[in-house]
Amino acid sequence: MLKHLLSPARIGGLELRNRIAVAPMGVEIAEADGKVREPVIAYYEERARGGAGLIITENTSATYPRGANSAHELGVSSDEFLPGLQALTERVHQHGSRIAIQLAHHGKVGRLDTQDGRALLMPSAPRKKPGLSGPLDLSREEMGLMAAAAGGGRPTIREATAEDLRELVNDFAAAAERAQRAGFDAVEIHAAHGYIFSEFLSPAWNFREDEYGGSVENRSRLLRETLAACKAATGLSFPVWCRIDAMEYGEETGIRPDDAQRTAELAAEAGADAIHVSAYAPPLGAGFTQAPIVHAESGFAAFASAIKARVSVPVIAVGRISPEAGDRMIRDGQADLIAMGRQMLADPATARKLAENRSAQIRPCIYCYTCVAQAFFDRSVRCAVNPITAHEAELAERSREKSPHPQHVLIAGGGPAGLEAARVAASRGHRVTIFEKDAQLGGTLRFAALVYEPNERLLGWLESEVRSLGVEIHLGRELRSEDVQELKPDCVIVAAGARRDPSAIPGSDLPHVLDGDGLRNLMSGEGERSSKNRMAWTDRFIIGAGRMLGILNNPGQLRTLSHRYMPLGDQIVIVGGGLVGIELAEFLAERKRKVSVLEEGEIFALEMAHPRRWRVLHDIREAGVDLIGRARVERISEHEVEFSVADAEGKTEKRHIEAQNVIITLGLAANPGLAARLEGLETRIISIGDCTGVGYIEGAIRDGFHAALSLDDKMQTE
Ligand SMILES: Cc1cc2nc3c(=O)[nH]c(=O)nc-3n(C[C@H](O)[C@H](O)[C@H](O)COP(=O)(O)O)c2cc1C
Repeated sequence: MLKHLLSPARIGGLELRNRIAVAPMGVEIAEADGKVREPVIAYYEERARGGAGLIITENTSATYPRGANSAHELGVSSDEFLPGLQALTERVHQHGSRIAIQLAHHGKVGRLDTQDGRALLMPSAPRKKPGLSGPLDLSREEMGLMAAAAGGGRPTIREATAEDLRELVNDFAAAAERAQRAGFDAVEIHAAHGYIFSEFLSPAWNFREDEYGGSVENRSRLLRETLAACKAATGLSFPVWCRIDAMEYGEETGIRPDDAQRTAELAAEAGADAIHVSAYAPPLGAGFTQAPIVHAESGFAAFASAIKARVSVPVIAVGRISPEAGDRMIRDGQADLIAMGRQMLADPATARKLAENRSAQIRPCIYCYTCVAQAFFDRSVRCAVNPITAHEAELAERSREKSPHPQHVLIAGGGPAGLEAARVAASRGHRVTIFEKDAQLGGTLRFAALVYEPNERLLGWLESEVRSLGVEIHLGRELRSEDVQELKPDCVIVAAGARRDPSAIPGSDLPHVLDGDGLRNLMSGEGERSSKNRMAWTDRFIIGAGRMLGILNNPGQLRTLSHRYMPLGDQIVIVGGGLVGIELAEFLAERKRKVSVLEEGEIFALEMAHPRRWRVLHDIREAGVDLIGRARVERISEHEVEFSVADAEGKTEKRHIEAQNVIITLGLAANPGLAARLEGLETRIISIGDCTGVGYIEGAIRDGFHAALSLDDKMQTE
């Protein structure tokens, strides 16, 4: 029991049932007029039902449409927005959560200003061009979507005049008072992440020579005036606080923690009832995953702690903080509240499950960045592991209801699609039986869990859910037509996974060449039995011992042990630079292998959400992995791989690399075989997941979820 995290808290006069806050997240579910309607309410209500003490809304434009990042951003700039906002706070309050509105003006990234032909408000004209020095690692389609979201046109800039600043302060005060009338319990001023207040706070963006530029006292003046005006407009007992950056990465002269400590003190003196501590980095490239959407666990904890040491008001910490780490931070006096963002998209009931001692039931975030990638394209949020997110109005209640037509369902395949289908179907009252041809559940997710730890948590969660829901599981058994004839289910869900076509590259059949299945078998000990991958006796001995001890069934132990031992040579060539090839390259590079990745296209890891792609590609380049694009493999021989590389004009050059092992990650394709074999049997067949076309974790889980819901339409056949 995490007693510190779950203990009540107070911000000013606001009492909170626990110290867990839903971090502000621009989910862009609203229509293009910034108004709150049912889908937005249902999204927040689900998080309130989930037990968080405090919900901080997505950035909400105090000056909508001016300064908004998107037309889908919520607005609170006039009384027209009141009815929706009122309905929102009422519904949240019904579940015992408190709700603060995050007020924002996006300054230099106010995309809606550019779309509407307004100039972007900034403290000063920038002294350098924003941009990225390294490769962009974006597809043409992604770049097109980003350009369209940014308004298509060229942004223009307007240096804020004293009059602009007075107006801004007044607009925020009016918005705060309006939010109070709408029933919000508090206001958070967004003074982080490169938006207008943080541009004033940052010496890298603020070059003003008036009383708003120069010293930290001057740079924080706009924020302090706004805090004071919001307090004056709402009355002293109404909590108002700010979110600030404690660090601005990637800017030589940017905000640093000592500067932020002083800003926090000044903000508290100006009336801030709490300080919420985030960080910032330029948003294109790997910087984005350094801050604010940090990839490192507890990545900003030290910043929160540094600020906590200097102010007496509560400090809200954020940044990939697990409940356990958050509990320790509160215990050790490093923070007072813990805000969680992505985890609350993955499982809005995280807080309730913790409070009810059901932490094993918490669906884990896999930090794949699918959610936040959508914001770059001005699309509403998506969660790869929770298909309900952003669709609460249609799906949340329905997924909880028992099915009106309980059925017996056979599921062929215990990978992520099959497991999710089994979980949802069983929880809705269907009788579910899984047939999995391997000796363990997980399918491709088991291998994905070996190379990327958060996937292991997802697999563990799916497995424990289906087991505790009483799903019948047959391991080592492929579903056959005879089983269907004998068991006479109402429905068969085919989730048998993708087919791997054999590689046509000459030399693919050499013993040191593996495909994904071969590698999986090798790591799990099955390879020793295979005639193709002949191993030295030492390898055979170690793998045999590992299998006997059960180590090879456990992705976590394998990950650890593989740092010391792997039956693979020092120089490895991976053919295919998609998601699988790149995750594998990272895994191997971390285990000190010299890795080269040959990819026919120009962009690597295209199937990853681009922020995660930025992070992984950055990390593997740093680790010395050689990424070779536009490369066509011609032949694999015993010691090397021959390939040709095309330049931008299409001129090719022949090259070769030495390799002790070659891993081919290509050849995954839809696999309609099993569904075809079952056709003609008198039962409904639903095919989902990779066997219908490779869709990775997000596609598998979404398919599994919807297949389980579609069982209600009993008579329908597919
Ligand atoms: C989809 C998404 C949207 C976000 N939008 C906002 C926002 O509107 N305002 C804000 O201050 N931070 C925003 N953030 C940052 C989060 O509040 C949080 O600081 C960040 O995700 C790190 O916390 P986490 O590791 O628990 O996700 C957003 C994050 C995500 C994932």
